[in-house]
Amino acid sequence: MTDFKELIANAIYDESLGLNCDEIKALIEIPADETMGDYAFPCFRLAKTLRKAPQMIAQDIADRIGGTEGFAKVENVNAYVNFFIDRAYFAGQVVEEVNEKGPEYGRSDIGEGRKVIVEYSSPNIAKPFHIGHIRSTVIGNALYKLYDAVGYDVTRINHLGDYGTQFGKMIVAYRKWGSEEELAQDPIKSLLAYYTKFHEEAKEHPELEDEARETFVRLEAGEAEEVELWKKFRELSLAEFSRVYDMLGISFDSYAGESFYSDKMPRFIDELQDRGLLVESQGARIVDLEMYDLGAAMITKSDGSSLYVTRDIAAAVYRKEHYDFYKCIYVVASQQNLHFRQWKKVLELMGYEWEKDCVHVPFGLVSLADGDDIKMMSTREGRVVFLEDVLNTAVQKTAEIMREKETEGVDIDEVSKEVGIGAVIFQELSNNRIKDYVFSWDKVLNFDGETGPYVQYTHARASSVLRKAEAGGTDINSLGDIDPGYLESDSAYALVKLLYRVPEVVVEAAEKYEPSILTRHLVDIAQSFNKFYHDEHILTDNEDEKRAKLALVKASRTVIANCLGLLGIRAPERM
Ligand code: ARG
Repeated sequence: MTDFKELIANAIYDESLGLNCDEIKALIEIPADETMGDYAFPCFRLAKTLRKAPQMIAQDIADRIGGTEGFAKVENVNAYVNFFIDRAYFAGQVVEEVNEKGPEYGRSDIGEGRKVIVEYSSPNIAKPFHIGHIRSTVIGNALYKLYDAVGYDVTRINHLGDYGTQFGKMIVAYRKWGSEEELAQDPIKSLLAYYTKFHEEAKEHPELEDEARETFVRLEAGEAEEVELWKKFRELSLAEFSRVYDMLGISFDSYAGESFYSDKMPRFIDELQDRGLLVESQGARIVDLEMYDLGAAMITKSDGSSLYVTRDIAAAVYRKEHYDFYKCIYVVASQQNLHFRQWKKVLELMGYEWEKDCVHVPFGLVSLADGDDIKMMSTREGRVVFLEDVLNTAVQKTAEIMREKETEGVDIDEVSKEVGIGAVIFQELSNNRIKDYVFSWDKVLNFDGETGPYVQYTHARASSVLRKAEAGGTDINSLGDIDPGYLESDSAYALVKLLYRVPEVVVEAAEKYEPSILTRHLVDIAQSFNKFYHDEHILTDNEDEKRAKLALVKASRTVIANCLGLLGIRAPERM
């Protein structure tokens, strides 16, 4: 497809200007005011070279390249050369390209031959998979899809929180108050109950804490009984998490979590020691980062057991050696900013210069509409909103809404899953990720707002137009040769422009680790499509006009489905 900036740059290029095509291209702007054209080239920089007033330069350029193909009008306004795209030419190109590429439209090969790791979700086992986890899970999955779409070879890692002193507590609690039947019946809720009880009891009996610490040391030393219990907790937890991942349509290439690194740490403790980075502090060993304003990173505790940051050091080096990544992306809440800054600093001090390729992608908090802060839903006190319950509620509520609408031919059981879960995912990806946001059912499930259901509904609407056309005898699989002169209206043009920008939006969303850039663009496309749908009579008697418009409908449907796919959301044909 024509790269219009390049077309302009080539047309403007002239030896006398003293700029090469890339330099010209970089100067081209998109005017905020559409009456100033689709693209504009400012001539200020040329004034010095050419020893002429910028206005005159602009006028000369405009005169020289007046009739360039692809442009309806080229004119100068003050020091700018303004370019108006030939709408029919443009629409013809975009529609043809999208319909030819189909599911591939929006994808590129920028990252070819390079490996990216996206680490996301990473819940702690034996603890509830609650609504607070949805962010890492869903943002991470979208980033995986975006990096995959721009051509990288992506590995998805679930860095399970399956190690650490809490397992000492869990084992002690289970031995004291647990039962096998209970555990089998409802593993995480039972483990949560034992864990909660542990904290209550420990207030009265602080010696429980010591017992837990000793138990963890035995676990870390590989004592059979402790390892056995730990394994059981891990398996039962994974089975529960998998249920949620299946609902969300999410999978991983590796579940190598914290425990995977338990035997890989001595090497790093030696390395730290050799580099003179370890300091004794009350029996524990730390790396002093005070001079970087980062406090202290604790590497081993006084009882010798390892810590979160130590395991993250081992994990990073393992990944570098094992995958030789170009980039390793960590999708983890902004509450852990300090941890990640400390960890990067320690890696840097250890001489691993590739630490600069490790990127922490933080995000803000979710809270519930009634003011019940998710962070307040402390696991210790046992007050939690399970993610699985949220997803099930979304599906149920969606089914109710759909029953009221009574759309013909819709399999409500199936579609309410796609829409309900899609709605929750879409909401997650709508806001700038770093912002805290409030979860509210009204917002999530609004079929008319800037929501998942709205976009999916638009997809279903486009599908329905195409079905009708087919029923009327139009072959929607042969819309290749159309007369784009029928796609010159303002609403068609606005829509075409948005479809055209999708590949660059995908790249930008990936590079900025910000799926919401794509989500917002997708809402714009849906709104623009609906405006086109209302403004225009699509299934007209004029065969050529109908085919041209249907080609645009088909292209829009493809783009909406592709973008939803990149966000991890299904695109139902009917709803
Ligand atoms: N399991 C941790 C938690 O739930 C998140 C792990 C983040 N990843 C990492 N490499 N530290 O808080």
